[in-house]
Parts: sequence; C-alpha cells; structure tokens
Amino acid sequence: MKILGIETSCDETCAAVVADGRRVLSNVVATQVEIHRKYGGVVPEIASRAHLEALVPVIAEALRAAEVGVDGIDAVAVVHRPGLIGSLLLGVTAAKTLAWLHGRPLVAIDHLESHIYAPCLERDALPFPCVSLIVSGGHTSLYYSEGPAAHTLLGATTDDAAGEAFDKVASLLDLPYPGGPSIDQVAERGAPDAVRFTRPYLAADSLDFSFSGLKTAVLYEVRGHGADAKNRPTRLSPQRTADVAASFQECVVDVLVAKTLRAAEVRGADRILVGGGVAANRCLRRRLQEEAEALGLEVFLPPMAYCTDNAAMVAGLAYHYAVAGRFADLDLETRAC
Ligand code: KG4
Ligand code: ZN
Repeated sequence: MKILGIETSCDETCAAVVADGRRVLSNVVATQVEIHRKYGGVVPEIASRAHLEALVPVIAEALRAAEVGVDGIDAVAVVHRPGLIGSLLLGVTAAKTLAWLHGRPLVAIDHLESHIYAPCLERDALPFPCVSLIVSGGHTSLYYSEGPAAHTLLGATTDDAAGEAFDKVASLLDLPYPGGPSIDQVAERGAPDAVRFTRPYLAADSLDFSFSGLKTAVLYEVRGHGADAKNRPTRLSPQRTADVAASFQECVVDVLVAKTLRAAEVRGADRILVGGGVAANRCLRRRLQEEAEALGLEVFLPPMAYCTDNAAMVAGLAYHYAVAGRFADLDLETRAC
C-alpha cells in the first residue's frame, strides 16, 4: 500500500510517499528557514504564503521521486493538528482536493503522533510497547505507547518546550537562527560543567517538565541579574558562549534523560523511543543511548532526516490508520492545538 503524506503544520512544506508504513519511496522538504531568519522566528502569515507557493511543486516532486502517479497512490494522509492554523489549512485543502479528484481515501494525522512514528520508518520491527519522549519546538511530552496510534500521556512541559528553550537561549547568546542546531554545534567546543544551572526536576516523582526558569537563569548568567531579554544581546567571547551553550544543553539533556528513564522504570518498559526536532541533538542521542543501554533498555532514535518536520512519518503512520479503516471525511477540520 502506497500512501502520499502531506505536512504543513509549521514552516516546512513536506510531501512523501511511503510503502506499507515502512519503506520511504520519497521524502521532500521545502524549508522556509531563510525566509523567517531575518525575523528570528516563524511569522505565521508569511509561512502560509510560502506553503501556498511550494505545495504543488513539492507534492509533484514527491510523486516523481517515488516513480508513482496519483493513480498509483492508495490514500492521501495529511496533518490537520496541532500547528499554525493558516499553514495547516493549506496542507489539508491540498490533501482533500487530491483525495476528491482522484477518488482516494483521506487519512487525518496528528502531528505529535507522527513524530512518535518517525523512528519506526525503515525498520523491520515496531518498538511498541515503549515509553516515547517527544521533544520539539512546541512540545515536550512523555507517553506510554502501546501501538502507533495508542498513546497515554505520562508528563508534559508546564511552560516552554525543550526546542523553544534551545531557540530562546540561542537568541540570548546571539547565535544564528534556528537556535537548536546552533547550540548543538557551538556546545561541542564548550565545557558542560562551566556553569552549574539548577536542574528543573520539579517534584521527586514528577514526569512533567519546566524550562522557563532555566532560560531566565541563562539570561542572568549572560547579562547580569535583573537583565531583560529585550536588551541587546551581550557580546560574550566565543569560548564563554560555547561554555554557556554546553552548560545549558547539559542541563536540558540531564532532565530529559532522567525523566525518560524514570518513565520507563515506572511503566516497566524495556524500550524507549525519541522523536521531534530536538531528537536531532547529538548530546541527547549519545547520553540517552549510553544510559539506557547501561540499564538494558533498547533505544529507538529517528535518523536525522526524520527528526525535524517531514511527511514520511505522516505517510508511514497513516498506513496503520488505513489498515484499520480509520479514514477521514472531506469535511475534516484543522485545529491549532
Ligand atoms: O519537530 P520540529 O521540527 O518542529 C516542531 O514540531 O516544533 O522541531 C523544531 C525544534 C526547534 O526548536 C529546533 O531548534 C529544534 O527542534 N532542534 C534542535 C536541533 N535540531 C532542531 N534542538 C537541539 N539540537 C538540535 N540539533
Ligand atoms: Zn514537529
């Protein structure tokens, strides 16, 4: 079964064709990073307009690269929540149009659930049941996952998402947009123990997260107590910048790893899955792999190309919906959250 997936929830226009939920036949991503760079973040209205321009060529390229016409596609899958409403609307309208014109069933996909599916692509065996950590620009959540579409929430961020913290701290350190990859890179040259930021573990048995206090601690470390994020970035030496970036990253990774391992212990899971843009972070990947494997747990990480937003994870997950006959109607609505 070949499924065409479409993803436009934020600032990447994505289309992909995946066979039988596993084999990625094509995966096309048109990124808007250059467009939003000068604003230091995603501007929703501009994102919608960029999707409008990119969607048709991106879908055409995904079909061409997969060497299949729309008539060779068994279903059209699209992310309809959560995300920027204008951006979602464009992907959903394109998917409905294709489904209606070609008489193909439509599958509605949740963006976060698709991130959980990313490590399942190009693998023979599925990781379920497992504990799933989703770390993206908008979410930081732990789930107990019993199947591709069966997830119980164990904990979530009470304020900033992990990716959001990376992006904001990068801006405080005057590092290039997007912030996550910049900190990952710069931290390589820094000392992770240069600044000992307080680890936000919350209550002893809590599986929730909180990163906004850490962000403020970095602000004070960089600009002095009582400083304001709106002030101009402070010029730190390259070494000091690297040290603060590495210390911040170490703090976030400590908390993410500790809570994920704790969730696995609480639920008696022997497998851990990680998805979302921050799953591309090399320190997180290394630490989780080392510490989980030392406890005899198996870790499922997505390949780099499937960490940040893409449509292969959407088309892959949709296979399981299609097999179960869970199709959407053409009056499918978009939801921001
Ligand atoms: O999943 P994603 O592409 O979009 C959302 O659904 O939000 O995640 C984007 C987030 C951004 O905050 C970005 O800075 C972060 O993932 N990110 C990283 C890395 N690559 C992307 N954070 C830390 N280290 C990275 N290597
Ligand atoms: Zn995402």
